[in-house]
Amino acid sequence: MTKRILVLPGDGIGQEVCAAAIPVFEQLGLPLSLDFGEIGWECWCRGGDPVPERTWRQIAVSDAVLLGAITSKGKNQAEAELVPELRGKGLTYTSPVIQLRKQADAYVNVRPTGRIAGPGKPFRMVVLRENTEGLYVGLDRRGVPEALRTLLNNPNLEKSGPDDATYSVRLLTRWGLTRLFDYAFFYARANGFDRVTLADKANVLRESGQFSADLFHAAAATYPEITIGIENVDAVALRMVTRPETYGVIVAENMFGDILSDLAGGVMGGLGLAPSANIGTGTPYFEPVHGSAPALAGKGRANPSAMFLTIALMLEHLGFVAAARSIREAVRATIVRGRTVTYDLGGDASTGAMAEAILAELKSPTPLRRACILSVGTALLEGRSVDAVAPAVARLLSKGGYLVGLHLTCGEQKAAIGNALTTCLGQSDLIAITGGSDALRGAVAATLGIPADFSGTRLDWRDKVIYLLPETSDAAVAALEHAL
Ligand code: IPM
Ligand code: MN
Repeated sequence: MTKRILVLPGDGIGQEVCAAAIPVFEQLGLPLSLDFGEIGWECWCRGGDPVPERTWRQIAVSDAVLLGAITSKGKNQAEAELVPELRGKGLTYTSPVIQLRKQADAYVNVRPTGRIAGPGKPFRMVVLRENTEGLYVGLDRRGVPEALRTLLNNPNLEKSGPDDATYSVRLLTRWGLTRLFDYAFFYARANGFDRVTLADKANVLRESGQFSADLFHAAAATYPEITIGIENVDAVALRMVTRPETYGVIVAENMFGDILSDLAGGVMGGLGLAPSANIGTGTPYFEPVHGSAPALAGKGRANPSAMFLTIALMLEHLGFVAAARSIREAVRATIVRGRTVTYDLGGDASTGAMAEAILAELKSPTPLRRACILSVGTALLEGRSVDAVAPAVARLLSKGGYLVGLHLTCGEQKAAIGNALTTCLGQSDLIAITGGSDALRGAVAATLGIPADFSGTRLDWRDKVIYLLPETSDAAVAALEHAL
């Protein structure tokens, strides 16, 4: 049956990435129909409502909403930018994304990230953010009522006085958390994750932290194969940056999840790559995590990848799993080739040019296998010997169809080998390590977190192949030739 998709390009770069990525639907030829609607800042300024009535009617008859991005400004500016006849009428701007989440009862915000290219160990980390309660519940007021003042008993509040103070509420409910945690474990199992971590702040927010933890444990009980963790959100932020590969699914209340998902996007290489899905009981909606980026708007420079990956999430949700996979692969291949990428990925392609490269890759996928060569040897670094092995290995790999993208030379210290290998891991399917001392095996094992007593030339680690080649050129080529 044909699925109805409503496209709401919205503001700023949202319009640009939508326009660039929309041709993918026609190219895929799926049973989908597209409608377009209005949303965002312009609607607010002209009509006093960022989501006009007509748009709500369109949403109601759609199977999914694809959103570009929306501009939100502070309270005073929102009032000032209204057309004159609407000013002073007490209209309040409520972020359309919050309104969309509410109407859809979209209780979970799925924000997957992972290493596509670039230095660092591969990782796959999904932030599942609660979307309907927590600190976003809307009770954020100026002026502290007497009853609350007594409860708070805070010296700063006494000094400022109740009118020069604000308060905000973090509401957590059994209903809200249970459905979130159930979804998290269901999602982990369905997507092959072996761990789910709850990021909260139970060392300070002790009552709500314990409440969350208890409900989390209860939800985990039916998933014995999944390892669980409960960590403070600040500690999660730190480890997301230093060792993202140690996480899988991370679940958090609304505000913590908001912050962690931006962070995860940064760890992935920027918000230009991060998609999201808002899923609940009503019409689900899908949007790139990046906002409307006013500073970038109108320049044609925004990275369209997050929009393509968002479309992939949407198609997956609608049951078009193979199409979703092929879009992801096309984005990955385009980024890995690195020829037609936007500024944030080190290139100078426009939004449209990168989108066309992704569409071309999707039309005729060409297999792409990447190799790195790592030459280990202090004598090489110091110029006391010449690397004869690497060029021979490079020729062989290239002949074997590999794109040799990186050649590093490093010293024999454990840390140097560890750093160089980690750099190679994020950007290759095969790593050929040449030369080196006896300590090399130990350093490789420590970096990969495996026992040091592995033997042989070939090492399979996750989806990578690593070769530890003999020190002379002939022997190295012979070993690799044999192995390839
Ligand atoms: C996001 C955004 C929104 C949020 C804003 C625009 C209301 O930052 O989708 O993460 O905080 O949820
Ligand atoms: Mn955010």
